[in-house]
Amino acid sequence: VKKYLDIMAIHKMNTFHWHLTDDQGWRIEIKKYPRLTEFGSKRKGTVLGKGWYEIVYDGIPYEGHYTQDQIREVVAYAASKGIEVIPEIDLPGHMLAAIASYPELGCTGKQHEVWGRWGVSPEVLCVGKEETFEFLENVLLEIIDLFPSKYIHIGGDECPKIRWEECPACQAKIRELGLVDDEEATAAERLQSYVTNRVEAFLAQHGKSIIGWDEILEGGLAPDATVMSWRGTEGGMKAIAQGHDVIFTPTQYCYFDYKQDEDQFKPVGKFLPLEKVYSFEPVLEGISEEEAHHVLGLQGNLWTEHVLHDWHAEMQLYPRVFAISEVGWTP
Ligand code: ACM
Ligand code: ZN
Repeated sequence: VKKYLDIMAIHKMNTFHWHLTDDQGWRIEIKKYPRLTEFGSKRKGTVLGKGWYEIVYDGIPYEGHYTQDQIREVVAYAASKGIEVIPEIDLPGHMLAAIASYPELGCTGKQHEVWGRWGVSPEVLCVGKEETFEFLENVLLEIIDLFPSKYIHIGGDECPKIRWEECPACQAKIRELGLVDDEEATAAERLQSYVTNRVEAFLAQHGKSIIGWDEILEGGLAPDATVMSWRGTEGGMKAIAQGHDVIFTPTQYCYFDYKQDEDQFKPVGKFLPLEKVYSFEPVLEGISEEEAHHVLGLQGNLWTEHVLHDWHAEMQLYPRVFAISEVGWTP
């Protein structure tokens, strides 16, 4: 991680977004909830290839997490290079590693395994229970303590609603809040928006603002949220129209898990050459001069589920990440 911070500093990249939790592993020590790393950072094996049509596991246990001391060390090292670290605790979806560690956090209460396959688990936080918010607040208190950044990224992407549709507690919450389906959003989307609003208000009490993936627009944007536009640029444009700040990281230009050569062996099939990254203009057509300040910047993402080695991370990053820097800093 420090090596990549060095590379970032050389190229004047000033923010490191650290995705620390997902369905396939919980990667940061939380003192109050030791099972998050004792259990949630480990999986029995990993699916071979994409595993979308046929599920075959390699049978090789995979584990790892950062201790709080290591996190502090990285944050301090980054700061010494002029880089701010923004942690992401992805909620209320992509939470299977936490739900597997503490089954009461899910809608069904069933014991699950940390996922060994990729994609999006249908198991999400049960937000009809107050205990879930108690858990989130306790986790976030430790995150606040570890990361001095103004922003905390709360994820919000890819949260399937099927458990909420069947969960008595979540349905009771929908009724209590008077949420209904209409042409703008479903009641379940509004329930996610309620969660985002609550987490935003909690973090605001501690002087922090939230960033969320563009799904947080669905069901209504939280008052002070910054939107990270990844499913194209539409979400970012909508957020700007509502007077919100935006970071652009659309998949078509900014996802470094995509192939760099058309014949690359990698299982993430889409092709994203250097020239395409370099052609991105984050102050998009349709954004006025007065609105341009809402574009905080752009970001390149390296999702590492198929990246097992340091050389592979470098292969995915270079030279595309340098194009991100130039796009950010030059006209
Ligand atoms: C994302 O790539 N799911 C934000
Ligand atoms: Zn529920």
